[in-house]
Amino acid sequence: MRTKIVAGNWKMNNNFEESVNLVKAIEKKTDVLKLKNTRVIVAPTFVNLKSVVDSLGDGCVEVVAQNMHQAKKGAFTGEISAQMLQSIGIKTVILGHSERRTYFNETDEALAEKINTVLENKMEAIFCFGEVLEDRKSDNHFNVVESQIKKALFHLKDTDWKSIVLAYEPVWAIGTGETASPEQAQEMHAFVRSLVADKYSQAVADEVSILYGGSVKPGNALEIFSKQDVDGGLIGGAALNVDDFIGIITAI
Ligand code: 13P
Repeated sequence: MRTKIVAGNWKMNNNFEESVNLVKAIEKKTDVLKLKNTRVIVAPTFVNLKSVVDSLGDGCVEVVAQNMHQAKKGAFTGEISAQMLQSIGIKTVILGHSERRTYFNETDEALAEKINTVLENKMEAIFCFGEVLEDRKSDNHFNVVESQIKKALFHLKDTDWKSIVLAYEPVWAIGTGETASPEQAQEMHAFVRSLVADKYSQAVADEVSILYGGSVKPGNALEIFSKQDVDGGLIGGAALNVDDFIGIITAI
């Protein structure tokens, strides 16, 4: 059975105090839910990662990073390495978010290197992909997604896929209030799963959790999560409010 995941990507939001207060409130309310086969994840900014890790008890909330550099170490001002993350207890990193691709010029090639670094360090990646509005309008969205997945991930071995979570985030749905319909999400998730099945095997494809991200709210989460190939969500805005985030977790 695939693991269900609800992950909150806090992006460049929440100072030290806000981060600690928010994660504590999430942990308290999540523990009551007694979740099974479900992971609850938060991704604070780098500067607050350690404080958030330290403020958690032994509940079920996991803390992950929003990005990571591919190199081991060295002269990369402003960057963070896998080893640095591991040294504060971080085992998972979000990679390839569209905001990283758009504003920081992250390429598929750089992402393939980052994925290798994740695997070399026995970490896990939540790999984001998705098309922009023009691609959707011109019916090019499947080609774009196929290319993103192939370039960054199709050099992996079968066993590497245990360390990969996929997150479909159509760029036109991020922070816009416009969600992909549950049918659009299901169609893309099923397509991506079939790509993995064709390249690897059905068994590998069946084990990969594929999250949907883009304006998920408590009011639309249930409908989206009810689709067969949607294994959870990567949440932006609604992850910054404890009740909204808990509402989404309850939906899963
Ligand atoms: P929103 O939920 O704010 O649309 O953001 C989605 C996202 O980018 C999560 O990574």
